[in-house]
Amino acid sequence: MTKKKILILTGGGDCPGLNAVIRGIAKRARKEKEWEVLGSMEAFNGVLNTPQEIIPLTSKRTAGIHVKGGTILKTTNKANPIKYPIEKPDGTVVFEDRSDELVKKLKALKLDAVINIGGDGSQKISKVLFDKGIPVIGVPKTIDNDLSATDVTFGFQTAVQIATDSFDKLVTTAESHHRVMIMEVMGRDAGWIALHTAIAGGAEICLIPEIPYDIRKVLKRIELRYKKGKGFAHVVIAEGAKPKEGSIVARKGDKGSEHVRLGGVAYQLSQQLKDAGCQAEIRETVLGHVQRGGSPVAFDRVLASLFGVKAFELALEKNFGRMVALRNNEITSVTLEDATKQYNFLNRDSYLVKAAKGLGISFGD
Ligand code: F6P
Repeated sequence: MTKKKILILTGGGDCPGLNAVIRGIAKRARKEKEWEVLGSMEAFNGVLNTPQEIIPLTSKRTAGIHVKGGTILKTTNKANPIKYPIEKPDGTVVFEDRSDELVKKLKALKLDAVINIGGDGSQKISKVLFDKGIPVIGVPKTIDNDLSATDVTFGFQTAVQIATDSFDKLVTTAESHHRVMIMEVMGRDAGWIALHTAIAGGAEICLIPEIPYDIRKVLKRIELRYKKGKGFAHVVIAEGAKPKEGSIVARKGDKGSEHVRLGGVAYQLSQQLKDAGCQAEIRETVLGHVQRGGSPVAFDRVLASLFGVKAFELALEKNFGRMVALRNNEITSVTLEDATKQYNFLNRDSYLVKAAKGLGISFGD
């Protein structure tokens, strides 16, 4: 009997829970005897490269991987088949559309389904491939929680937990030295990680991209802490936060990357506070990639495993062109079109922001 073939790949930045999705798909597929599960190494590079790098996802390879961070299939954010970076002999990079070549190669593999595990950019690729006749199913991932079609993405809770644990450690040293501690977290253009961490940790100030801050208001809140005799303060700032008068801190991306690199706003804020007359000692901590590393928390393991099982079941039903999602506590799916329509900004009028203000958190607005 010729087996049906399903190909899995992970694209974009890594995220705790990717391996749990891979295992979920593989375990569920094994219940249907006629399916063979394959993995493409390093996103679609495994298919595009010669020789191809496609590995069978045997039970030996996937056993127990749900507790591991990263992705056993490796990943890259420099292999968008629609804008594929090609380095010229003079070192410059041009972008080429390799989607037709990819479609040809995927068709030659005679796949019955392709499961693309990735964020916003990856799901846009899924949509293009689906429109070109590939039976694709998307699985959303990102620590940033910036996909609007799902209530939450796996990886987010792990990032918040890591950030909160780090915040807790800064509290004791802030208190001992009467310092202002600024902790910068990831999240790109969304403030989800920052706000959840600020609430969980008990920060006085939380600065997020969705609410540009006024440095005078931030300073006022800090001064209030010192006046009350507490003599220390904690700020959580999202890497995409910006002042009312000013811009975000961004660097050119790596060669071949389509994105700018964020990071460093904590230092900008520190300088702005000093320039505005802040008398207290300030220290900055930029958490960076630790937020994406290590083992996923239980919530993310569960969500990622359920997403994996659901993705395979969509393939079984031949329900392609869809992305799995969590909506109102149900594991469901949405069309790839709906999945990529809107960025999931944190709504400044939401109850989350209101409640944070109720807890005394200032957004510097
Ligand atoms: O999208 C996830 C994320 O970790 C963002 O929060 C961050 O801005 C970006 O990826 C970092 O990307 P890289 O790993 O390419 O530096």
